[in-house]
Amino acid sequence: MSLQLGRQVFGDAKNTGNVLSREEAFQLLNEWVLNDRLKLHMIQVGGLMKSWAEEVELLSAAHIWKWEMAGLLHDADWDQWPDQHCKKIIEYLEEKQVCPEIIRAIASHGHVHFGVMPESRMDQMLYAFDELSGLMHAYSLMRPNGYEGMELKGALKRIKEKTFAANVSRDDIHDACQRAGLELNDLVGFIIKHQSNFKLVE
Ligand SMILES: [Fe+2]
Ligand SMILES: [Fe+2]
Repeated sequence: MSLQLGRQVFGDAKNTGNVLSREEAFQLLNEWVLNDRLKLHMIQVGGLMKSWAEEVELLSAAHIWKWEMAGLLHDADWDQWPDQHCKKIIEYLEEKQVCPEIIRAIASHGHVHFGVMPESRMDQMLYAFDELSGLMHAYSLMRPNGYEGMELKGALKRIKEKTFAANVSRDDIHDACQRAGLELNDLVGFIIKHQSNFKLVE
């Protein structure tokens, strides 16, 4: 089964700036994603994208929502249509005339699978947060107090252990850090600081 998208252009430039409302995005999330674990992953990645856009990139509210929306919907089709991941959500957002930047970020969240390289800052950060967020969540579930009292040193040690969350590709994580021009420490520190705030709601 190949998930290669076979194209490099997504959406239409004339739709630049178009977004779904928060209600529409959450409605889609709730309709398409029945698995709560996956839904939480998408909310966490959306939350990290939002916080990063706000605190690090210092973007305006309109751009912050674009980043959050990309995170929130990046795996929308994975639960019910895994063999069409992420083709189905891309086609849906194109039909809805959503901003091409959001669609491209979703299309490049796993270049090994989809054949689309992360280029923009939004692309790079979605790719970086995707695997790392899941890994950190797995780590939080192993700890008696979850994210409380979690330290960078312990988290980095876990990430280095190949047997821990063995299905998460360390190569992808390092590739993502490199592409984003960031140190693993900084991303992990950012996730420790924020991820516990994002919960299954709405
Ligand atoms: Fe995915
Ligand atoms: Fe994901």
